[in-house]
Amino acid sequence: MMTMKLGIRGKIYCGMISIVLLTGLMIAVPVRIMVERALSQESLNKGMSMALTLAARSQDIILGMDFLYLKEMMDKAIQSSNDVSYSFILNQQGQVLSHTFHNGFPVELRTVNPIPAGQPSSIRFLDTGKELIYDIAVPVLIGDMRLGTVHLGLSKTRISRTINSLLWTMAVLIGCAVLIASLIGAGFADQIIRRVQKLHRASEQVLKGNLDVITAPCPRTACWKLMGCRSEKCPAYGEDRQRCWNVEGTLCPSCRAGEYAEKSDACRNCRFYRDASGDEIQALAESFDAMTRSLKHTIFQLEASKKTIEVSEKKYRRIFESSMDMVFVTDSQGRFLDINQTGKTMLQGGSLTRTANGFSLSDVFSSPFEYADIQQDLIQQGFVKDREFTLKTLAGSELQALLSSSCQIDPAGEVLGCEGIIKDITQRRNMEQQLLQADKLASLGQLSAGVAHEINNPLGLILGYTQLMLREEPESSQKYEDLKTIEKHTRNCKTIVEALLNFARKTETKKVLVDVNCAIEQVITVIRHQFELSGIVVNTRYDPDLPQVLGDTEKLKQVVMNLVMNARQSISKAGKIIVSTRYDSISHKITIAVEDTGSGIPPHVLTRIFDPFFTTKPTGQGTGLGLSVSYGIVKEHGGEIMVDSEPEKGSLFSVTLPAVIQAP
Ligand SMILES: Nc1ncnc2c1ncn2[C@@H]1O[C@H](COP(=O)(O)OP(=O)(O)OP(=O)(O)O)[C@@H](O)[C@H]1O
Ligand SMILES: [Mg+2]
Repeated sequence: MMTMKLGIRGKIYCGMISIVLLTGLMIAVPVRIMVERALSQESLNKGMSMALTLAARSQDIILGMDFLYLKEMMDKAIQSSNDVSYSFILNQQGQVLSHTFHNGFPVELRTVNPIPAGQPSSIRFLDTGKELIYDIAVPVLIGDMRLGTVHLGLSKTRISRTINSLLWTMAVLIGCAVLIASLIGAGFADQIIRRVQKLHRASEQVLKGNLDVITAPCPRTACWKLMGCRSEKCPAYGEDRQRCWNVEGTLCPSCRAGEYAEKSDACRNCRFYRDASGDEIQALAESFDAMTRSLKHTIFQLEASKKTIEVSEKKYRRIFESSMDMVFVTDSQGRFLDINQTGKTMLQGGSLTRTANGFSLSDVFSSPFEYADIQQDLIQQGFVKDREFTLKTLAGSELQALLSSSCQIDPAGEVLGCEGIIKDITQRRNMEQQLLQADKLASLGQLSAGVAHEINNPLGLILGYTQLMLREEPESSQKYEDLKTIEKHTRNCKTIVEALLNFARKTETKKVLVDVNCAIEQVITVIRHQFELSGIVVNTRYDPDLPQVLGDTEKLKQVVMNLVMNARQSISKAGKIIVSTRYDSISHKITIAVEDTGSGIPPHVLTRIFDPFFTTKPTGQGTGLGLSVSYGIVKEHGGEIMVDSEPEKGSLFSVTLPAVIQAP
């Protein structure tokens, strides 16, 4: 852990000092042992030869008992060498004959190193407390007779001192080596640290988003210069800062094609690499520079692609959002992922909250069978085109719609997701129906004109003759009653025929500016009293600012009368009829609404009420022409007639007519 905290400088110092110290120790310890051994041996040899010399020279002196001379000889002997501490001679009985001690002879020395029998000499290591000493004992012999023993004390302390001074010298030398190593280490460390710090600063710049940093020193030469290359298409050609082994797709014959790593591995055998590559830090710096360059290039490309994607996204988003049809995207489960604004309005969601909660395509289908059918085709073919279905809005209403969709399907046949368009064709379908209706009316008009014309005259004759015969018959007779029945039915027939002729005949429409409120009021005035007698209340709500319309007053009154009569006939007992008008300033249309609380119209009847002669009333009570005539009149005025009805609750008939905008 400590080494982790040390900087590179510290590590290099520690490393070099440790190496020097370890080397010094490894040298000093054996050297000390060897030197100690050699010095001790040499000193012992010297001491031994001195002791032998003393023994040889002391033979005669001992025999002559010249102890003064003996002492003088021994003093000279110890003065001749620094290593000799003392010397003494014992006689045969072990008595001291002479010694070199100044402060008296230490008696213990007499017996401390006896020469074992059969041995020519003896050496004993002694610790006197003050000094370490080798005591060398050599016999003084004449022939085989032993006259005494010469003892010579060789100081070991002095040898140790020599060794210690040698060790000190070595320690000083090692210290110097450590100093030199530190200085060299500092030099190396500084060089490495400067380069590493440069890399570190550069990496911080990169982190801050600056990718223009350069950390490697400028190369002395470039591959294309050194190799005399003329391959101008090579990405390394003309490049002075980058190393060719860091450039992808180089065209040098010695380069290997392939990915960057593969290529750069192959570069290690290239002559230029061997010439121009530096140490590991330089390689790191060059790779770092190559990496930032590549990163910059990649970011540039990413930015460019991002912009292209943004432009494309905006374009397709615009198409998506501005489409007048519902455009949607669903996931593999058919859940809506995205719906354009038209789609949201169509679904009457207004927001995508339900989509987020897993609102899916199947939810907009009114009939699950229709959905299953379309889904099957989507899976089998991958698409469906212009498939009509009934769309159920979130508000519960229904629309006729066309679906075109395509799906991505994986090889296992699983749907991954779909996109599609839903077109609201309710209005188109209504118009088609209205066209059909208009067509029916036109052909029927032609037919009925001919038939009515043919029937009208005979009917007139029948009625005339019946009335003539009635005059001649007494009122109480049976014949009179029969003739009355004929007259009644003939009149009915005539009414129908006249209505038919009215319907078919292209009576000239005299268009004037009509005050619709006023026209309606005239109709209501006629019927109100009679209706109220039957318990039917008639309410009116007129828009006071209702603009005028251009039309035929009588025909418009006829439309209102038909609607009011139908409303009255739908109410069996008491009830209410509301006749109202309103103006829509945006569409510039006025609406006449006739609402009743009558029986309402069941769905199967609703589709047929504008058909000529369609009636649900008993024979003689309705011709079934009221609404179809009204329809024709409204169309003639450029308007629309619509119905909204619920069985048992009542009906609402709305007539919309274009208003006349008068200049203010
Ligand atoms: N307000 C209404 N309430 C209930 N049903 C209605 C209403 N208006 C029209 N109908 C239905 O539409 C049918 C056709 O109406 P239409 O006015 O064309 O003919 P009619 O009323 O039956 O006969 P006519 O108008 O010739 O007397 C009616 O028979 C009735 O079933
Ligand atoms: Mg009617």
